Amino acid sequence: MNKAVLVCRAVFPDIVDRLREHFEVETNESDVVWSRDELIAHLQGKVGVFITGTQPIDAALLEACPELKAACSMAVGYNNIDVPACTARRVLVSNAPDVLTETTADFGFALMMAAARRIAESEHFLRRGEWTKWSVEGFAGSDVHGATLGILGMGRIGQAIARRGALGFGMQVIYHNRSRLTAATEAELGARYVGKEDLLRESDHVVIVVPYSVASHHLVGAPELALMKPTATLTNIARGGIVDDAALARALRDKRIAAAGLDVFEGEPALHPALLTVPNVVLTPHIASASLPTRRAMANLAVDNLIAALGAGPNKGRPPTPLNPEVLA
Ligand code: DGY
Repeated sequence: MNKAVLVCRAVFPDIVDRLREHFEVETNESDVVWSRDELIAHLQGKVGVFITGTQPIDAALLEACPELKAACSMAVGYNNIDVPACTARRVLVSNAPDVLTETTADFGFALMMAAARRIAESEHFLRRGEWTKWSVEGFAGSDVHGATLGILGMGRIGQAIARRGALGFGMQVIYHNRSRLTAATEAELGARYVGKEDLLRESDHVVIVVPYSVASHHLVGAPELALMKPTATLTNIARGGIVDDAALARALRDKRIAAAGLDVFEGEPALHPALLTVPNVVLTPHIASASLPTRRAMANLAVDNLIAALGAGPNKGRPPTPLNPEVLA
């Protein structure tokens, strides 16, 4: 009998068919968000699983699913995966880097611009039927071109945002990251390295693109927001929990900063209720990578990884983007 794999969310059927060429496939076509226990139940007898950025793959789950050999995610962020626990059990795990970089950077830039130029706030005003006259200061926001763009986290997506800012909008780009880029990359991006506090003080627009970890939990909270300019905007396209959403809602309410753009939230899909009461925030439901071609590319990459990790297909034994390649040795 063929090996069995699980696809735990609804995924493009033609991409799932690529798995059917090699394995017995159980899908979740009704796209139910399974609890941990339900996921464990569906994983019984499965050697591989296609996941997204939310299913927890950790020691307890591995203990309950001893046949599992590979868990391949279509997300680039992998804070839902305990990589050392997977390595210890020789379970290959993979994420989906690169394929979503430009699409996600486009969205980060769009969200920053929407916050700076008050696009969502003014659209809501118009839809409420409150637009009765043009006015000089009506929804006057802040400029993006020529402003200082501060990027927290300078991986692939941060660098793609830096290029947009420097080359497209004549922005001064400053960044803060765990490790500094080479001088050549800084020169190519036109980006200057600064400390986190200087970045918060100097930026007109701060964009967060750091991965979530215990170290980045509430990286931006009340003390950090207090450093920012009252005219500044804050955009988070990374992960919920990096920004203290309650503190941000207060800062927006008190006009401590001008506006924010949020695509990710602590405890999503639930939102901190205070965020829904402040007008100067643009809220989107974790869609930064959601262009159709990019979501297909992400799903295809997860499938490439799963097929190869389970010893099938043209790349058998050589998944393209493993997180723990030592498992393959
Ligand atoms: C990612 O790929 O990490 C996106 O945030 C979707 O989860």
